Amino acid sequence: MSTVRTDFVMPVGIDDLAIYVPKLYLDYRDFAEARGIDPQKLEYGIGIKRMAMVDTNQDSACMAANACLKLMQKNNLAPEDIGRLYVATESSIDESKAMNSFVVGMLELIYGEDSLEHAGGIECKFACVSGSYALYDNANWIRAEENNRKAAIVVVSDIAKYDVGSTGEYTQGAGAVAMLIKEDPRLLAFDAKVTSTTIKNEYDFYRPCGRETPLVNGTYSNLLYLIQVRKAFDSYKEKAIRTGLIRINDGESITDHIDFFTVHLPYRRMGEKALAYLLRHEWRTLPRWELVIKEIGFREPVPRDPRGTIESILLDTVFMKADEQFRKSFMQTSYYNEVYEKKLSSSLEASGIIGNLYTASMYMGLRSLLEYENKKNHNIGGKRIGFGSYGSGSSAMVFSGVIQEAYKEIVRDMNLEEEIGSRTKLTMDEYQSLRENQLTLSDSYVRAKDEFILVKIGGTTADKAGFREYCFCD
Ligand code: HMG
Repeated sequence: MSTVRTDFVMPVGIDDLAIYVPKLYLDYRDFAEARGIDPQKLEYGIGIKRMAMVDTNQDSACMAANACLKLMQKNNLAPEDIGRLYVATESSIDESKAMNSFVVGMLELIYGEDSLEHAGGIECKFACVSGSYALYDNANWIRAEENNRKAAIVVVSDIAKYDVGSTGEYTQGAGAVAMLIKEDPRLLAFDAKVTSTTIKNEYDFYRPCGRETPLVNGTYSNLLYLIQVRKAFDSYKEKAIRTGLIRINDGESITDHIDFFTVHLPYRRMGEKALAYLLRHEWRTLPRWELVIKEIGFREPVPRDPRGTIESILLDTVFMKADEQFRKSFMQTSYYNEVYEKKLSSSLEASGIIGNLYTASMYMGLRSLLEYENKKNHNIGGKRIGFGSYGSGSSAMVFSGVIQEAYKEIVRDMNLEEEIGSRTKLTMDEYQSLRENQLTLSDSYVRAKDEFILVKIGGTTADKAGFREYCFCD
């Protein structure tokens, strides 16, 4: 008996996406003044102007449900069209009950009780990278034809919250992105057989059970992010070349064949630094590197122990200082800037006005890329996006996808500011009250409209202890 081998891979990917951003924000100038920081450090050193904040009556589950409802309404989806609903988050509201069960509960307030009972799904956790794992698993669920012609929804939703007064405090934010995953997607088809990951037991950023804010080693987390994404990228490169997805000629880099980059964005500047790190890694063995060095005017430094650990490299202060100087000079070269402008800049716009969204950051970056490239009147159908996803703790995932010709019908109506809606600026005193949990659910700063909110935690009787009740505000 002969086996028929087919290399046909069903195109699966993101058909559409919807976002939810809470209506409160903190302005970087007020924040800088209150903390005695130069506002230019926040605007340029970090790349933040507004940090989105959740109101007293919002949590990550209702943001997820809001994004999900928008996605369903926008695409006229009925519950029976959905076979799986995954929520990826690190702002869990229960140690056991999965966040997607709360989201299903909220959606059923609109679509009717048990309307989603036929579906399945879980809450996924691995810091900021878990949404990427959720997409990968659901894409493969469809490729394996387990989906009975139904689509999957993957929602990434988070509240990035750091200790008051810490250096992480200016990298806060909140929001959710819901993505519709299906066969023959209109927006982006994932490249098959090239997704690559790394995983390592690390303590760069973590939040032990019961803590509201994470414990962070900021400098270490920055370097670990760069190294882990680079390692996953090396593996992606090997697969992309081996499978014939990308062919590289002499003197070329794989980065020449990737039209856009979308990376995890804890803050805008980190995206710029990630691109610089990747290009240095990919270009330093190519003939063009001599031209780069000529423009910079000095050579790239090498650590005392090039095979050392991250800790030993961080302790090599002479190298770290020289490397920082080299990196900053590299980021000013025409070579870096050409790639930056063409391939990365559009994906960073949203981050500067929303902040870190943990799991949702990179996908808000994707949304930003599509919208701002469209605003530049660029035709990006058929172009390849390379994704660099990172989650502390730590794991990185690198994958890619091709923008489909039908993307135009979706990006046409994208307008971030309009979609977020009018926002209310918090004073530092109001922010302080929110942070100190001085307010009750009913003390919200904004009157909710057309969205789910949290109305009660804990029932009046013992058998309903810990229940969370939500409603939809018309
Ligand atoms: P910091 O102490 O503000 O760092 O901490 P800094 O003093 O080095 O300043 C940052 C930048 O501002 C530097 O530029 C300065 O030169 C510049 P760079 O060297 O980066 O190009 N600067 C100025 N620029 C203009 N005018 C000035 C000025 N002064 C300084 N006057 C840090 C920054 C990110 C470490 C901190 O905010 C932090 O700990 N954040 C939280 C952790 C984090 O975001 N880590 C990122 C990597 S890990 C990750 O992304 C995962 C995560 O999302 C969690 C998850 O996976 O779930 C966090």
